[in-house]
Amino acid sequence: MPIKFVIIFILLFSIAGCSSLKEDFTVSPDSFIVIGHRGASAYAPEHTIASYEMAAQLGADYIEIDLQMTKDGKLAAMHDQTVDRTTDRSGAVQSFTLEELQQLDAGSWFNREHPGYADPAYSRLKVPSLEDIFQHFGSSVNYYIETKSPDLYPGMEAELLRLLHEYGLIGSKKDNARVIIQSFSSKSLERIHREESDIPLIQLISYKEKAELTDHEIKKLQKYAAGIGPNYNMIDEEYVKKARENGLLVHPYTINKQNEMEEGVAWGITGAFTDFSDTLTEVISNHDQKE
Ligand code: G3P
Ligand code: CA
Repeated sequence: MPIKFVIIFILLFSIAGCSSLKEDFTVSPDSFIVIGHRGASAYAPEHTIASYEMAAQLGADYIEIDLQMTKDGKLAAMHDQTVDRTTDRSGAVQSFTLEELQQLDAGSWFNREHPGYADPAYSRLKVPSLEDIFQHFGSSVNYYIETKSPDLYPGMEAELLRLLHEYGLIGSKKDNARVIIQSFSSKSLERIHREESDIPLIQLISYKEKAELTDHEIKKLQKYAAGIGPNYNMIDEEYVKKARENGLLVHPYTINKQNEMEEGVAWGITGAFTDFSDTLTEVISNHDQKE
């Protein structure tokens, strides 16, 4: 075969290989994921498009989105039930329509509280709806979405699944880890699992004391969840080992110190939420080079 055909064949084969890797992307215990907590929230106002863009640039495999619901039933990205902390107004998210919510300044608070990272442009940032985020990023990023306060917002899960379908982000067996859904509410996750059993679900857990995982809890979790998201400061190596031996992914929140990132990785966690995606990406890269 002439050499130029051999080169073309090799090139085509490599391109096909790359694209199938992306399409077959799955959450695997063998590959660690960096989760950009509220975007790159150490460096930019949390839950804004700017914060999510920065997280992706800093190496996050997933952008993390907390969801609340507006008066007119739209899903919006915000951590708190009220707008008080992260905008220039006060009140419950559910007392605003989406249009009203998007009049608010979602960035000036950050400039005041983090002068080292302040940017005048942040004062023009808006609260994005989930649909805004999907329109902006499409399938160029992976999404790690939390149903916050689902008891307050009937229909939240149905609206989330509707949007995920509309934007073609779920439904493909090949691409089943484009979206991960997390919640502290097992009821919310079970509702999603009944509708869409292919979406990987992470049960968030907030331990008040040293974490323990009983066999009974593991059996319950295995019915609907792909893994758990415990608070990092209450877990240890034994906890991680037990979860992983039972086939559960372990994605602790929120690890911001480099020494804790290294410790968690050595214990065998399979991903972590961080405000510093750049640091965690570097920790993983150094860890991989040593292996
Ligand atoms: O979702 C994981 C972690 O983000 C949970 O804590 O309060 O930041 O949503 P919170
Ligand atoms: Ca969260």
